[in-house]
Amino acid sequence: MSDKVVLAYSGGLDTSVAIKWIKERYGLDVIAFTVDIGNVANLESIRQKALDLGAIEALVTDAREIFINSFVFPALQADAIYEGQYPLATALGRPLIAQLMVNIAKKEGATAVAHGCTGKGNDQVRLDVSVAALAPELKIIAPAREWNMTREQTITYAQQHNIPIPITKASPYSIDENLWGRAIECGILENPWNEPPEDVFAWTKGLKETPAQPCYIEIGFEKGIPTSLNNEKLNSIMLIQKIHQLAGEHGVGRIDHIENRLVGIKSREIYEAPASTVLLKAHQALEDMVLTKEQLRFKNKVAIEYADLVYNGLWFSAFRQDLSAYVESSQRYVTGTVKVKLHKGNCQIVGRKSPYSLYDYSLATYDKGDVFDQSDSPGFIHIWGLPVRTQAQVQSPFHQES
Ligand code: ARG
Repeated sequence: MSDKVVLAYSGGLDTSVAIKWIKERYGLDVIAFTVDIGNVANLESIRQKALDLGAIEALVTDAREIFINSFVFPALQADAIYEGQYPLATALGRPLIAQLMVNIAKKEGATAVAHGCTGKGNDQVRLDVSVAALAPELKIIAPAREWNMTREQTITYAQQHNIPIPITKASPYSIDENLWGRAIECGILENPWNEPPEDVFAWTKGLKETPAQPCYIEIGFEKGIPTSLNNEKLNSIMLIQKIHQLAGEHGVGRIDHIENRLVGIKSREIYEAPASTVLLKAHQALEDMVLTKEQLRFKNKVAIEYADLVYNGLWFSAFRQDLSAYVESSQRYVTGTVKVKLHKGNCQIVGRKSPYSLYDYSLATYDKGDVFDQSDSPGFIHIWGLPVRTQAQVQSPFHQES
């Protein structure tokens, strides 16, 4: 009996070729493993395909709920957006896939895990580092990083080995998608001067097709977690799917990003992230209302660190645990409702309310009912300005010599 390897199997060309290639090259028995985190159309046919290609076993799992509750929502609470643009959909999926692969490897007594990532991207780093954190004894095989085949050569290999190549018109793009977003790369997008053609987009409508009338939605949060839409309580998957559909209909969530990969390459990435765009914006709007100025400033810094470490494959690190502890603590009053207007590609926050709001009408108003005592201000300003006055007397470049 040969040793076993657990291969993260998508059903696509590369991982299908990998089933045969690993057997040929390493003599290992392949257990194909497919995870649905909101991207898989037909789990059963993928499973069957893996078996037909010679996998000794083919396992599938629906991990959408754990993906949302244990990876996506913590990142939402952190306001994690890489380089101010990318909501990290793919990056959040990888550590979960690694974790599930490791679990299966242990259960099945496999000595290795394998994935279809190339040697140029971030995903190899995320998977390899996560596997190493969870099960350092497992060997990692990455055929696409080792076999040095061009796309053409991969297709030839597939033909020679009777591997069915998807007959659907081959997409010129490389696409990865899950419930939190869709990433599109390659083809004419590799010239950053080219505007993305409409055929790149599958989740969001172009502006010409979006409704003339805006759509208003109300999102309810409890401790930083979205729990309702238009006053209806929804489970996490339903909530994301409904917001996805509404925002996509109004063309919200298209992102065009020149991104800095961990391996040092700048790449041009197109994202469609209707649900994440809306939820991240709404969550921040609620935080603006319930957190103090200092909490918000510090949390902004945490958000940058958090996004970087997720992007860089360090989900299973002590640093992430520590930042998560801060983030979770910061969310204890992030409860309330945010009103969002979706219209012609824009997602605008137009209202917010919370039982823990720090916005105090009687302090803010310029109308009747004002309780702010303006006669306190001169004394406050006198002391506030003391160091400036002191410095101005002896050092200031603004001081006029007479
Ligand atoms: N650039 C994004 C990231 O690093 C998306 C990667 C998409 N992956 C893919 N296999 N097409 O997270």
